[in-house]
Amino acid sequence: MSRLRIFEEAHPDQPVLVADTHADIARELAPIGVAFEQWEAAQPIVAGDAPEKIMAAYKADIDRLVEERGFRTVDVVSIAPDNPNRAEMRKKFLEEHFHKEDEVRFFVDGSGLFTLHVDDRVFELLCEAGDLVAVPDRMTHWFDMGPEPSFIAIRFFTEPDGWVGHFTGTDIARKFPRYEPGQAG
Ligand SMILES: [Fe+2]
Repeated sequence: MSRLRIFEEAHPDQPVLVADTHADIARELAPIGVAFEQWEAAQPIVAGDAPEKIMAAYKADIDRLVEERGFRTVDVVSIAPDNPNRAEMRKKFLEEHFHKEDEVRFFVDGSGLFTLHVDDRVFELLCEAGDLVAVPDRMTHWFDMGPEPSFIAIRFFTEPDGWVGHFTGTDIARKFPRYEPGQAG
């Protein structure tokens, strides 16, 4: 089940708010400029389907988002728990960073943990299948796919080189919960 936990930066052990309905999560994220939507497939898709088939199943929402936000590239990325490079892939965005374009992901299947650092608050968002999240450019955040990563995601890009991680060098990400096995409900 998707979940949002909001923490004060100084208190990583105790969330000040927990939201676990899509409507509540979207309402809490809207004031910081983060979009959170649920999309439904127009046709059934199963694990192993080609990217073209996956994108066709969500064409209406993809086209709407591309039109609204001016994306130039859309792709599909997937990772399974037995990927031999999973440890390096997990490590890549585990520390606090930002991008110069929005980070927009739709979870076709599986899950991942986005944690956003905004002023003195931390928003930990567990994304599950059917969730679309749009993190604005320059918003500091980190992403954890967990030690046994499993997801298929549609990604949206504006510039070929826009989605580069600029790391802040802080240790804040290490103070907050990581994505552990079994956390997805
Ligand atoms: Fe990122």
